[in-house]
Amino acid sequence: MRLPIAAGALVAIATSLSPTQAFTASPSLSSSFTSRRSYVPRNVHRSQPRRASTISSLQMSADLKVGVVGATGAVGKEIVGCLEKRSFPVGNLRIFGSERSAGKEVETKFGAVTVELFSEDSARECDVVFLAVDGDFSLAHAENICAGDDGAVVIDNSSAFRFTDGIPLVVPEINAETTKGKKLIANPNCTTAIGLMAVWPLHKLFGLKKMVMSTYQAASGAGQPGMDELVDGTKAVLSGERDVAENKIFAHPLPFNVIPHIDKFQENGYTKEEMKVTWETRKICGLGDDFPVSCTAVRIPTSRAHSESIVALFDKPVDVAAARKTLEEAPGVKLVDNPDKLEYPMPLTATGQYDIEVGRLRENIAFDNALEFFVCGDQLLRGAALNAVIVAEAMLDNGALVGSS
Ligand SMILES: NC(=O)c1ccc[n+]([C@@H]2O[C@H](COP(=O)([O-])OP(=O)(O)OC[C@H]3O[C@@H](n4cnc5c(N)ncnc54)[C@H](OP(=O)(O)O)[C@@H]3O)[C@@H](O)[C@H]2O)c1
Repeated sequence: MRLPIAAGALVAIATSLSPTQAFTASPSLSSSFTSRRSYVPRNVHRSQPRRASTISSLQMSADLKVGVVGATGAVGKEIVGCLEKRSFPVGNLRIFGSERSAGKEVETKFGAVTVELFSEDSARECDVVFLAVDGDFSLAHAENICAGDDGAVVIDNSSAFRFTDGIPLVVPEINAETTKGKKLIANPNCTTAIGLMAVWPLHKLFGLKKMVMSTYQAASGAGQPGMDELVDGTKAVLSGERDVAENKIFAHPLPFNVIPHIDKFQENGYTKEEMKVTWETRKICGLGDDFPVSCTAVRIPTSRAHSESIVALFDKPVDVAAARKTLEEAPGVKLVDNPDKLEYPMPLTATGQYDIEVGRLRENIAFDNALEFFVCGDQLLRGAALNAVIVAEAMLDNGALVGSS
């Protein structure tokens, strides 16, 4: 039987431990492909105050049975890391994988966990299951895991259910309330989630009318295999073994290149990745089905954290000072905008950070009532794992996620 956690037992605390500190405090929580230490430009003081998201770390009286499917992959590893660092009330952590990783042991703050071969029955024994596999896997299993009163809450990182009516697509700082009473939640595309963290507060201030986005997306957006292809290919070229790197994951060799092609081309000439930004922005922000959003998505040879150049056109006249103040106060956002000191958002500084960085903020000179700015965010955190864990925290808060006896 699932037992509601007493509402009063959930106390959101303004965490005094910044994500940066948390990463430093947990050096053992390493991803295999990136250093936890973010690059800090020489003239930037790392002690800049960092805010946690609105729905911050929770102190809770009940512990949950938590499942992560795909915890050997790029996103799944980070989900485990976020559960650890945000003090999510994990009573029992179970990690599921395929035959490739079943039986392996994963060291976590909750103890050593042996990877179990995934089965729907085992996943249903959990209170909440984070899916970090792929769309076909989620289509096959997600609804069965959460079916019935005794099914688990499922938070899915794939694109399988993002546009399904009745299934919330959630960036918690924007539409956490849509999770109430729901068992299956879709986590947004990483590019959309990162961009909307900056666009949403500006939308509330000036009223968004149109948006044009150009992205610069890291190799790890294609998971661990994408990251491996970038690293191995770069080594092969630098060592003189090859003139041009090999490619299997990306449409063309990524080292020393940029590729204006992510996901499949659609009939309208956009790629699916680009259309996801359009479709998901409309759904998450509650804008109309024909709300104008246009994106060009480009893969670049960085390892982690996506960058986005955004031109946002508004109903009201824009005021750059007011926009800066709003962004400074927005949860999950860090304004990094001191061109004089060479401070602006970059993948090296955004990597490993919970907050997305926004900077290069200026009034656009080509359009009326328009702002132009640059955003960088760790797509494995805000664009996937962190977003999913904050969704679960929000569901604990509103009673959609409860513990079981
Ligand atoms: N990478 C990103 O930046 C990003 C951002 C947002 C959303 N996403 C989405 O998140 C999901 C995971 O992406 P990723 O980048 O983490 O991929 P990934 O690095 O390739 O990892 C995939 C994971 O899925 C597991 N898996 C594969 N087949 C399985 C099966 N039959 N049963 C159980 N586990 C299975 C793998 O475990 P084994 O080793 O055991 O096979 C592995 O842990 C995808 O839907 C992706 O679109 C990714």
